[in-house]
Amino acid sequence: MKIDPTAIDPSVLALATATLRSGGLVAFPTETVYGLGANALNPAAVERLFAVKGRPSRNPVIVHVAGVEQARHLVTDWPSAAAKLAARFWPGPLTLVLPRLPVIPSQVTAGGPTVAIRVPAQPIALALLETAGLPIAAPSANPSSGLSPTTAQHVFHHLLGKVDLILDGGPTSAGIESTVIDLTRTPPVVLRPGPITVARLEEEIGPISRLAASIKAHDPLPAPGMLARHYAPRATLILATDDGSGLVESMTSEGRHVGWLASKSAKQIASPLVRRLDMPDDAPAYAARLYAALHELDLSRVDFIVVARLPDEPEWVAVLDRLSRAATPPER
Ligand code: TXA
Ligand code: MG
Repeated sequence: MKIDPTAIDPSVLALATATLRSGGLVAFPTETVYGLGANALNPAAVERLFAVKGRPSRNPVIVHVAGVEQARHLVTDWPSAAAKLAARFWPGPLTLVLPRLPVIPSQVTAGGPTVAIRVPAQPIALALLETAGLPIAAPSANPSSGLSPTTAQHVFHHLLGKVDLILDGGPTSAGIESTVIDLTRTPPVVLRPGPITVARLEEEIGPISRLAASIKAHDPLPAPGMLARHYAPRATLILATDDGSGLVESMTSEGRHVGWLASKSAKQIASPLVRRLDMPDDAPAYAARLYAALHELDLSRVDFIVVARLPDEPEWVAVLDRLSRAATPPER
């Protein structure tokens, strides 16, 4: 159902609320990516969520809440770092990992002692959380290890017939998943880089560590985003060490269909085998466009996607993280 974020139709919210209350699954927009929501207090609904995504049960999901008050009811401890980060960045693309209370079913946390919580900054998501009065467990609304959806059409394409309701609130603004920070460790650890950079977090709470190595498929997971391959398109993704034009030229001369995430200044390559998308040159705009560009190239059935080199700078960390995971070949 279409829903206008500037004039939210209460009857659509009522339907979404009833669906969640009866154990159903509702896909909805957040400012990062579309989430696939279930009542976080209903273990059966959460189990169905995992089944629909094909998500391994050891990958915990994020719980969305309407505000700090509700978040505090789900955790045993609300440290000063949580208070500072919530005051500064909520609603917004930041997820806090905190020790959970038993009210959160173990299905949500993959059996672990912590729960990941965030307040999304998207009017439809917030209105839904407020109207439903429930914490909503919501991973990205895509089949496990595929590309995250940034439009309702992406959700529709991959999950139609498997979910009860899709709320179409238009394209998401940030375009990549929230930053995840674990506040149960000292110093706190960023488990997944995202729209809010480590530098901005450190301004509020001091030194933070970044989880270094990525993890193999069979190791215990501190975070599902830590799987080397994640966020992957169907086509093989190649990260160029330059603007990618040479690679694109040689691949097309061999008759291959190539998608190219280029910069506007790269030279033109006149081949019908190239599908070129000129990407923005600032990091937030690039992030906002990234998944839609990869979805678009997948739909146009290219065999390879060549990505022009990006700056090795702090504001590009989250985009580089998603691209390097997408470029990792599947594990056997
Ligand atoms: O932007 C987002 O975070 C989106 C929207 C829908 O809110 N959601 C999302 O969920 O990306 P998902 O399930 O695709 O990613 C789950 C992330 C993992 O990467 C992991 O870092 C974190 O949530 N996570 C969830 N529970 C956790 C826990 N108890 N401990 C550590 N990490 C956890
Ligand atoms: Mg995901």
